[in-house]
Amino acid sequence: MLMLLSLVTTACGQARQNDNQTSNSNMEKKILTVFFSMKGETYMAGGRIENLEKDNTHVCAEYIQKAVGGTLFEIETTKVYSKDHFKMIEEAKEEMQNGEKAQPKHWLSNLEDYDVIFVGYPIWWGTYPPIIDTFLEHYDLSGKTIIPFSTSEGSGLLNTVAELCETCKGATVTEALAIRGSQARSSEKKVSEWAKKMISNL
Ligand SMILES: Cc1cc2nc3c(=O)[nH]c(=O)nc-3n(C[C@H](O)[C@H](O)[C@H](O)COP(=O)(O)O)c2cc1C
Repeated sequence: MLMLLSLVTTACGQARQNDNQTSNSNMEKKILTVFFSMKGETYMAGGRIENLEKDNTHVCAEYIQKAVGGTLFEIETTKVYSKDHFKMIEEAKEEMQNGEKAQPKHWLSNLEDYDVIFVGYPIWWGTYPPIIDTFLEHYDLSGKTIIPFSTSEGSGLLNTVAELCETCKGATVTEALAIRGSQARSSEKKVSEWAKKMISNL
């Protein structure tokens, strides 16, 4: 029998070899895309500030769900930030420096039902927003596959995948996708192809 082997690229957790049979079972895996995206004014390329209806990480999260199906869940924080971008980024910096524990407005009651979780976040001051830790730490993620994606205005992923490995105890965290926020709306093909590849490689 011809066995086509594929190697799952992992950032942490166990790298696994899968055969065809396992790949077919990927169709039955329950997929969730969770993301945090800052509503309101966003810094775009060239120093422009735009008030977007749908923010950059949100746009990418929707491309992923459209490409691979499953459930989309937006993580929202109870903290109310200034509507002014420049004030907001200072508030976020202070929150992070003080180690404030951001709280989500809603939890996802059945997160444990999902096998594969795409986790999306913008880069804030060189890492992901504190709400990501609060949200993920709330659940038992052992045995799950976490696939990170991020938007930023130039930093890329930085150390966030390693940080997710720390937070998502017992999970396999895969390689991640970094998208430039101001290019999110023209990146559907790139994001969709990557998401499909990540699922078919599991
Ligand atoms: C508080 C704050 C801090 C940021 N820090 C960085 C940074 O360190 N590096 C970077 O490239 N972009 C940074 N950005 C830009 C965002 O990562 C970028 O605009 C992202 O696409 C926003 O995603 P969103 O629209 O989904 O919230 C920052 C934005 C905010 C609001």
